[in-house]
Amino acid sequence: MNITVCGTGYVGLVAAVVFAAKGHKVVGLDIDEAKIAMLKAGKSPLFEPGLEKLMGESAENLRFTVDYRDAYADADMVFVAVPTPEKADGSAELSYVMAACDQIAESRSEGCPVVIKSTVPPGTNARIQEYFDEMADGCANRSFEVVSNPEFLSQGTALRDMLYPSRIIVGVQSEKAASLMRELYRPFDAPVMVMDLCSAELVKYASNDFLALKISYINEIANLCDVVGADIENVAAGMGADPRIGEKFLRAGIGYGGSCFPKDTKALHWLSTCHGHEIKTIKATIEVNTAQKTLLVAKAEDRHGSLAGKRIAVLGLTFKPNTDDLRDAPSLDVVGMLRDKGAVSVLFDPCGMPAFERRYPAQPGVVEYAESARAALAGADMAFILTEWEEFSSIEPEEYAALMGAAEVYDGRNVYEPAAFGGSGVRYISIGRPVVE
Ligand code: UDX
Repeated sequence: MNITVCGTGYVGLVAAVVFAAKGHKVVGLDIDEAKIAMLKAGKSPLFEPGLEKLMGESAENLRFTVDYRDAYADADMVFVAVPTPEKADGSAELSYVMAACDQIAESRSEGCPVVIKSTVPPGTNARIQEYFDEMADGCANRSFEVVSNPEFLSQGTALRDMLYPSRIIVGVQSEKAASLMRELYRPFDAPVMVMDLCSAELVKYASNDFLALKISYINEIANLCDVVGADIENVAAGMGADPRIGEKFLRAGIGYGGSCFPKDTKALHWLSTCHGHEIKTIKATIEVNTAQKTLLVAKAEDRHGSLAGKRIAVLGLTFKPNTDDLRDAPSLDVVGMLRDKGAVSVLFDPCGMPAFERRYPAQPGVVEYAESARAALAGADMAFILTEWEEFSSIEPEEYAALMGAAEVYDGRNVYEPAAFGGSGVRYISIGRPVVE
């Protein structure tokens, strides 16, 4: 098939590359000329393991353009994977999706299936269908059928997630569209679950928000562990062994970030409230996460009273490892709080520093950037671990002591076994586990 994918962000680019790898002729379209220039040169604008390699291997089936008329003219099927960012009130911004639909209709004399991969609130695809129908104005040739096909990939494992999904969710309005989507996904070894448009849209939000809820829940249990003297690793392992609960997404920490959970929880909260049916668990999930991001600063303040003048090595800025993405990363809040409290933050991240520096320019004595984790630790009063990059766990407890003197490590991602710090001279504080003095 000739497939055009509108939007070469995480979802769009990964989908384009994977469809090309499966033998389709794929055009990737974007308004960002710099990005398209990179893609034309065979370079991935995203830091995503394996993506550039598969792009190279599928090059003969893949081309990129900024010219939407050229991109849409011969497509048998169009995928829309443009952003739906959060608006000030928490609702989803749909103008990029609607602009893409306008351009699709404008570029073609005949209709084709339009598959919406962007995360859109329940009811949106039906509205897009009405919009296309109005534009077609009764002309059967120009009828576009809207299909919903939400994407569940995670950054850092995006290729594997798209190649080997747990399930493929497809929302349709006709058996013809259902067969087409079943055919497209036949080479993928995963169940294709066909349903109505609105249910498919809601599966995406309900799944992301449930995972976010699971994280906020375990974080609250971790905070209770701190109070009653239990160990969250034991509690989470015991809970996760029940297959009805499952062991995944029970890692306690300083809260979730990223491009989906913060945005999708707020969007569902907004939507449910608009319908007069507030989902209280989602509201609580958001509140718990907001508070959780401040936990390390609160723990350090509890011990020291004031953090003014303290030199704090901040290890990890991205919202999770193996990405350069800072969207809603807890580090943004933590560094802002440390600055406001008069502390000196010395930052290191293997990938996230250039983007972080645009938000927090270097300012000696306030926000400083180090060349390595160890350089950040040298002479610091405390270390805050905010992202569980693998390289951080190779720093031995004794090294903290040697680099920092009277060392205090606040581990916001439970990277270490607390016992490793026994007798090291380092005070080790983590999430929901006993402090090691
Ligand atoms: C998420 C969903 O997993 C994915 O299905 C959806 O399509 C997009 O949103 P992503 O944001 O890439 O993917 O990362 P994910 O690995 O889910 O982590 C999100 C955040 O939750 C990170 O900040 C991570 O540190 C945090 N997290 C995750 C926890 O704090 N504890 C956990 O147990 C799991």
